Amino acid sequence: MEEVKKIYLETYGCQMNFSDSEIVASLMQDEGYEICEKSDEADVIFVNTCSIRDNAEQRVRRRLRELKSVKKKNPFVKIGVLGCMAERLKQQLLEEEETVDMIVGPDAYRDLPALLDKVEDGQKAINVILSTSETYADITPVRLDKSGITAFISIMRGCENFCAYCVVPFTRGKERSRDPQTIISEAKALFADGYREVTLLGQNVNSYSWEENGRKINFASLLERVAEVDPLLRLRFATSHPKDISDELLKTIGKHHNICNAIHLPVQSGSSNILKLMKRNYTREWYLDRIAAIKKYVPDCAVSTDVIAGFCSETKQDHQETISLMREVGFDYAFMFKYSERPDTLAQKKLEDDVPKDVKSARLQEIIDLQQQLSHESNKNDIGKTFEVLIEGSSKKSKEFLMGRNSQNKVVVFPKESYAKGDYVHVKITGCTTATLMGEADPLF
Ligand code: SAH
Ligand code: SF4
Ligand code: F3S
Repeated sequence: MEEVKKIYLETYGCQMNFSDSEIVASLMQDEGYEICEKSDEADVIFVNTCSIRDNAEQRVRRRLRELKSVKKKNPFVKIGVLGCMAERLKQQLLEEEETVDMIVGPDAYRDLPALLDKVEDGQKAINVILSTSETYADITPVRLDKSGITAFISIMRGCENFCAYCVVPFTRGKERSRDPQTIISEAKALFADGYREVTLLGQNVNSYSWEENGRKINFASLLERVAEVDPLLRLRFATSHPKDISDELLKTIGKHHNICNAIHLPVQSGSSNILKLMKRNYTREWYLDRIAAIKKYVPDCAVSTDVIAGFCSETKQDHQETISLMREVGFDYAFMFKYSERPDTLAQKKLEDDVPKDVKSARLQEIIDLQQQLSHESNKNDIGKTFEVLIEGSSKKSKEFLMGRNSQNKVVVFPKESYAKGDYVHVKITGCTTATLMGEADPLF
């Protein structure tokens, strides 16, 4: 009997990339491959990569060099670079990284079997063609996250916003939405398999759009349809662009108990001047107006954000506006980055990356310190409250404790008692750290 071929998949970058790896796993399983957990057991290694900042690419480069040792031990192993770096660097990556056998862009995964055949014949293979229609809608992803409770569903691909700093429109191509029927069937199948939470993914979910029998389906109506799959199936979504998060969407969130009260709304900067240079298409005032609308329609909604420190020409005053906006909104959580110039973007072509390194670092540190404080305050505010928590598994620190999330996406840890993964339980919060809420189950709630 021929031995089953094994594939090892390693993923960098955003949730979309993780979701894509599940599509890749599915396509490879159909080809008879088995997914394995260790790179040195594999016949094929795929590295699904991210280009968002220079340090993301450097990390992958270091990893590719490390993989040389795996190839030394097993000269037959084939190494493929997938995802955004493959798309951005194309042929160049084959020339620069000798360990790499194949380069496959995010819209070319259906071609993987053919490309692998070519590689098996001793050639190098590449497909980085971007598509205007590919959504992998008919492929059932192999769930790589082992919790069995939470899963991602990709609802659209690509991005056409062309924010001045961002590489994504170049690596992911044109924006396209996926057939809602396939999204709903995927949600139903997940629920039947015991999953209790799905996150709908897209670079800008607010611009989801589909036409069915002459009727337009926007993101709010899609969300509503998925929410109706089952009241016990929780829904999250990412990412919303502040320029077009609508009252209609907020009302939909407010109306359905199982649509989580947590919105990720990347602000990037608190200065309208910088937002204009970034081509974000909103102002500080607009952003604050959207926050007010969130508080109006979804009163206990958590808001998280992304912030970039030190974008081109950012002054001390601009930076202070970011700080004051963060305070004013009181974000519950944030991802914070130093601006990293990306090739071919508008900022790289037209603006100067002129904020000195040490100034960028100092500003980022100030932003991080402030966010720590805001997250802690937000958590302290929850002490005494009772939340419905979906249990995801054991707490990392102790088997005697369970870990789950509340609707606001905060991690809640509490004593196990007789509760189990997948249960919804009401937990009264008794303490917290900056990152976690601690409490006790309240069976009488
Ligand atoms: N589509 C999402 C975000 C995608 S990238 C959105 O529009 O909100 C995730 C985050 O990375 C961005 O929100 C931004 O904060 C950050 N980012 C993107 N390009 C960057 C760059 N060149 N330098 C630093 N941070 C960047
Ligand atoms: Fe990048 Fe802007 Fe698109 Fe987000 S919306 S992926 S930041 S171009
Ligand atoms: Fe990175 Fe590509 Fe996602 S650049 S953030 S993996 S879309």
